Amino acid sequence: MTTSRKNQGIRTTQTRLVQPELGPAPGFRSLASAVERASTVVFSDVASLRKRNWRNEEQYAYGLTGTPTTRRLARKLALLEGGKHCILLPSGLAAISLVMTSLLKAGDRILLPTNAYEPAVELARFFQSRFGIVLDFYDPLKMESVIITANTRLLWVETPGSISMELADLPALGKLARQHDVLIAIDATWAAGIALPVFELGADISIQALTKYQSGGSDVMMGSIVTRDLGLHQQLAETHMQFGMGVSPEDCNIVLRSLPHYKLRYQAQDVSARKIAAWLKQQPAIATVLHPALEGAPGNELWQRDFSGAASLFSIVFQPHIPQEKIDRFVDQLQLFHIGFSWGGSVSLALPFEMDKIRNAWPYRGGLVRLYIGLEDTGDLIDDLQQALSGLEE
Ligand SMILES: Cc1ncc(COP(=O)(O)O)c(C=O)c1O
Repeated sequence: MTTSRKNQGIRTTQTRLVQPELGPAPGFRSLASAVERASTVVFSDVASLRKRNWRNEEQYAYGLTGTPTTRRLARKLALLEGGKHCILLPSGLAAISLVMTSLLKAGDRILLPTNAYEPAVELARFFQSRFGIVLDFYDPLKMESVIITANTRLLWVETPGSISMELADLPALGKLARQHDVLIAIDATWAAGIALPVFELGADISIQALTKYQSGGSDVMMGSIVTRDLGLHQQLAETHMQFGMGVSPEDCNIVLRSLPHYKLRYQAQDVSARKIAAWLKQQPAIATVLHPALEGAPGNELWQRDFSGAASLFSIVFQPHIPQEKIDRFVDQLQLFHIGFSWGGSVSLALPFEMDKIRNAWPYRGGLVRLYIGLEDTGDLIDDLQQALSGLEE
């Protein structure tokens, strides 16, 4: 290990304390991924400084453009999704924002589905009012509502929607987009890089909120954008750099630790969630269970055709005669399900949504609660739901 670039003649302890130990530690090998942090990246000489090229992913130039830890995570995520390139961002919403900002200019049109993640819709509205981007919506359940015009640049997909659980026909959208030379960006957070082969089915850009299953502990915010096309990746990477959206190697390491077993968690939670969804379907207070993997549920045919698994996130719709106050009380009475946004950690969550305030033509009249099934025992979660449901009769 080298103590200093020019380490001869250091006389004081102070300078020895300050000078770094550069290079690998001979004789040390570990199974753990190292957390390589950096703002400054040092060059071995002036010639390599002058030759630096931050766009070249074989080189390191500055902390913002990546360290071995962040690149390790990016490589694994690209591999996982069947893509070639990956950009990491400080949140899932930052990933959404980077895709829209990089690819749209004044006059370009973006088509959003009516089931899109609400902050993505708000962001597109902001771009519309501030920067002259044209925003229109389509109904993910109706292919005939997808109207491509000459200025349409980006077709947004979220399947299923993370509250409504409505599925889109991704292969049909992919075909249409290719015919018109339009890019498809999919927020595929529910499928988590596991349950839906997004690139095979026609997407160009896959967005993940790694905040969910990939990090797995309800304690990290991160997002990713995976692509196959190099030119598209470079366009996104350019804006990424200009906006200075780096991620912490510490956080990347948390996700790296979680990746080897997150598929096992996803699958185990899927089994548990389907049992709970099937049980809820039998309860008189519940009018509809919106879980695409449930036989006969809305979207089940598309789910069977395109998906190989399901997230443990689904919604229940109560009978229309049950007032919102009682539904809120049901959520308050749950003991194991906590009340909070996001999902993908080990603890179960419940959230009521007033769909008539979010959606124009929402077809159900009863109140909706979204459930996230964590890693608790399935029977304990059913018991908890049962005791809270019994409170509805009071
Ligand atoms: C479907 C979906 N996409 C994106 C996001 C944004 O992710 P983040 O919370 O990391 O910004 C969320 C967060 O809840 C989400 O549910």
